[in-house]
Amino acid sequence: MSRSVLVTGGNRGLGLAIARELAAAGDKVAITHRSGEPPQELLDLGCLPVRCDITEPEQVEQAFKVVEDAHGKVEVLVANAGINRDQLLLRMSEEDFTSVLETNLTGTFRVVKRASKGMLRARSGRIVLISSVVGLLGSAGQVNYAASKSGLVGFGRSLARELGSRGITCNVVAPGFIETDMTRELTETQRDSIIERVPLARYGAPEEVAATVRFLASAEAAYITGAVIPVDGGLGMGH
Ligand code: NAI
Repeated sequence: MSRSVLVTGGNRGLGLAIARELAAAGDKVAITHRSGEPPQELLDLGCLPVRCDITEPEQVEQAFKVVEDAHGKVEVLVANAGINRDQLLLRMSEEDFTSVLETNLTGTFRVVKRASKGMLRARSGRIVLISSVVGLLGSAGQVNYAASKSGLVGFGRSLARELGSRGITCNVVAPGFIETDMTRELTETQRDSIIERVPLARYGAPEEVAATVRFLASAEAAYITGAVIPVDGGLGMGH
């Protein structure tokens, strides 16, 4: 396989593991990064780094042009970029709320809409949205993040219905607590209390999420769409 793949926020954490996995499977992988330089490892793998803030429509358009010129129309989109601004409701500012929605939900809408143009013409494509177990379970101090992540479930399922007849699948991956910069910010006490609630009694590895994304983007997953796949050690079971 040598498809044109785009992973948003692919310079670190889960996005980096996903980019690595798909590049190793033989795809032409482009990643977006917001600031700084992309890791050398990605350049060594032949990945194409493109600077792009998904909250800026012009930057999204420009990034797609760069990717299309280099690799052709995007055939696999992994909408991974996301942020959190945790705070209890009464202390949460409008800006904390809207910036998380603007990145995680509206930013995803923006890149998916742009990628779907080429997929509709090709009558095939794979879209994978990175949600979170928090979108299904809820989490105190994360009403903004949880709303954005459960929003992705409704968004993804609607898209699966809208684009299915054109050979485009859209699935949602809901990771639990995975070892990345985002979760390294937690205190020891917070980490211990999370692990107590996880049946597999450990954090997940980014590679475990990446392997699920690779499967959903593969030919073997051609009949899976509108699914929400947990990669959470059993934390969200039943939701
Ligand atoms: P991270 O903070 O290490 O990486 C997030 C990526 O998103 C970075 O590359 C960042 O540059 C990019 N990004 C953020 N805002 C952006 C914007 N406006 N425009 C473009 N790129 C932007 O986080 P991590 O842990 O790798 O998370 C990746 C995704 O997985 C996120 O959507 C997160 O919500 C989700 N997730 C992570 C979990 C975890 O335990 N680490 C659990 C469940 C979901």
